[in-house]
Amino acid sequence: MSGARVLTVTGATKRFGAVLALDHVSLHVDAGEVLAVLGDNGAGKSTLIKCISGVHKLDSGTIEVDGVHAQIHNPAVARHAGIETVYQDLALFDNLDSTANFFAGREEAVPSWLPLGMRWMRRTDMAKHSAEIVGRLKINLPQKVASVGMMSGGQRQAIAVARSAAFASRVVILDEPTAALGLRESRQVLDLILRLREEGVAVIVISHAMDHVMEIADRAIVMRRGRVVGEEEPTPENRNRLVSLIVGGDD
Ligand SMILES: Nc1ncnc2c1ncn2[C@@H]1O[C@H](COP(=O)(O)OP(=O)(O)O)[C@@H](O)[C@H]1O
Ligand SMILES: [Mg+2]
Repeated sequence: MSGARVLTVTGATKRFGAVLALDHVSLHVDAGEVLAVLGDNGAGKSTLIKCISGVHKLDSGTIEVDGVHAQIHNPAVARHAGIETVYQDLALFDNLDSTANFFAGREEAVPSWLPLGMRWMRRTDMAKHSAEIVGRLKINLPQKVASVGMMSGGQRQAIAVARSAAFASRVVILDEPTAALGLRESRQVLDLILRLREEGVAVIVISHAMDHVMEIADRAIVMRRGRVVGEEEPTPENRNRLVSLIVGGDD
């Protein structure tokens, strides 16, 4: 049940010195659709999503959000365009609780010029807001406020995904969201992704876990050496074909 085209990347090219990390990559994702990006280590997957998220700047190529050309110079611009990303190297602050992590980097949430009492009220609102989202997405978090450093990998990942879900209006990008997780924790994150999709968000997920890809993705593209080398429907019948595209077995 996918909808309007939300994100279109055309001819994305990015070089790091001698390494051509992205070579004319094109893709699109629709509302309520999960696109899997597959590929071996070094294929360019993380570089691709970092360009869409404003961490890196494309050397050439274009990004459109809702059909409008987007100049995504930095992560704040990406967020403003409704694109939220959960990076492979999870950026959570160990010393902060889940509410604080939820709003970290959003300085607009509690401006320091507000009087102390107002800041306190604003924080109370934020805690309520994050509790609502956590409830809506049925995330299991410890009842007591705990610093994120005390949480399990799954809980940390759940906060990061929930955070992206809370703020994304258009696109959520997840780089290897279940790589470090156990079965139950992976289940939580997969369910979250499916819920995002139900809510009409366009989702891009990078994953090596073929079973997860089969379950949650509507389409799968394969990258190798910076290029998109194929697209297959992620069905059990296509599994071997996808794997051979990933490893380059048909070269
Ligand atoms: N910041 C960087 N500086 C230099 N080279 C990089 C950088 N990021 C990625 N690369 C290189 O770009 C290529 C693609 O990397 P990456 O996008 O991380 O691949 P993947 O996520 O598919 O494993 C690799 O050759 C990698 O070494
Ligand atoms: Mg990567």
